[in-house]
Amino acid sequence: MSKTNKLTIGLFGFGVVGEGIYQVLQQTPSLNATIKKVCIKDPLKKRSIPDELLTTDPMLILNDPEINIVVELINHASDAYAIVTTALRKKKAVLSANKAMIAEHLGELLQLQKLYDVPLLYEAAVCGSIPIIRNLEEYYDNDLLQGVCGIVNGSTNYILTKLIDEKMEYKTALLQAQANGFAETDPTLDVKGFDAVNKLTILLLHSYGIITSPLKLLHAGIDRIHAHDALFAASKNWQIKLTAQAKKLSESKVAAFVLPQFVTQESQLFGVRNEYNGVVLQSSFADKQFLYGKGAGRYPTASAVLSDISALRFDYRYEYRKYHRAVTGSVLCNDYFLCLYVSFDAISDIALQDFELIEEFRTHPERSYVVGIISYAKLLRSTWVALPTVSIIVCPDGVIENMEALSLKKKSLELAGVKFKEPVKEAIDLIE
Ligand SMILES: NC(=O)c1ccc[n+]([C@@H]2O[C@H](COP(=O)([O-])OP(=O)(O)OC[C@H]3O[C@@H](n4cnc5c(N)ncnc54)[C@H](OP(=O)(O)O)[C@@H]3O)[C@@H](O)[C@H]2O)c1
Repeated sequence: MSKTNKLTIGLFGFGVVGEGIYQVLQQTPSLNATIKKVCIKDPLKKRSIPDELLTTDPMLILNDPEINIVVELINHASDAYAIVTTALRKKKAVLSANKAMIAEHLGELLQLQKLYDVPLLYEAAVCGSIPIIRNLEEYYDNDLLQGVCGIVNGSTNYILTKLIDEKMEYKTALLQAQANGFAETDPTLDVKGFDAVNKLTILLLHSYGIITSPLKLLHAGIDRIHAHDALFAASKNWQIKLTAQAKKLSESKVAAFVLPQFVTQESQLFGVRNEYNGVVLQSSFADKQFLYGKGAGRYPTASAVLSDISALRFDYRYEYRKYHRAVTGSVLCNDYFLCLYVSFDAISDIALQDFELIEEFRTHPERSYVVGIISYAKLLRSTWVALPTVSIIVCPDGVIENMEALSLKKKSLELAGVKFKEPVKEAIDLIE
């Protein structure tokens, strides 16, 4: 797109974010970007814009040669896929916030951008207003980035804040998140961790050049967090956060998962509350850096879309450098360990023999828990992990890179006076 080109937009979706970008563009005339048509689904809904702008026919936008930017802000992944791929094939620049659709089709979307020589930008799809994708693309070189750990879902962070800080009921907190426009139209996408794992899939591409499917990444949400887990966290003065993590284990191996995590006061994520998101980037030389901002809601998300519209003015596109030089690049690896807190209703709910070692074990008629170290590969294969009566939370600094790190961890625990036992023996002791 040349600098002199007028930005003529075809907008899909006029919901929380779509209406937001419409309003924001009215307030930024300097951008010289005009919305020519808005495609919606339900023609009977009352709207705050002139009727002549509206259509239910997507082809009115996709076939219009004057429209050079398609902004896709609908809440339906397969319709979004059809809109975005058709627009790219018609050589229109595309902006999207649809992380589910993008994460599922990353490989194909990269190819289409190359084939038709048009950009697809999606800053709003990850962490709302935080410019994480462009930062990862432009600033963090593959070799320097040791890890990315973020609260990437505003809705679950809002609910966790209300549960822990205000002792609110889960259902009330979820309803509030929906009323504020933070939650996805289908809130199970948020609370079961699907939204976060879609975002992690996108982050993996821009952090390490890895294209994978969200289905291949271990993820759990916050829907199984038990009131006793919150009490456990409070007793240590920790917070529980749903984090998406990618961590370099060695030169080319990367660990990645979405799980609830205990966060200590020393972590930058500790103070990230309500609908805010935060991402800690660990680099080899700069140490930790922290990006913080609103991760959801009408105007924060619209601000990221606005920034992408503005970037099209100077022909910005993702170059996917880390992916293209990935001949000797990074790969996902399952060969590491996690230190986990696992709470459950009955001992028969979990398999203690799966643990490499057990640091702590408390049984209680209402809710029991174990703190121990387990191989990630084993965790992926274990069926008990997904039981509705089992809650899994990663302990602070819970990623243990390899066997050597596991031995060191064992030694440091022994020095600290932790009297852990072999897992199977522990299980028998306690059952007896
Ligand atoms: N809300 C947030 O804070 C947030 C943050 C980051 C990213 N996002 C992403 O942004 C996108 C939009 O979210 P939202 O919260 O704005 O959703 P929303 O409020 O539920 O609005 C969805 C809009 O999409 C329209 N729509 C659905 N299917 C359509 C189709 N086939 N053709 C044309 N229009 C269609 C709906 O039309 P009707 O009005 O006629 O029903 C509605 O206007 C989603 O991908 C979401 O994941 C949202």
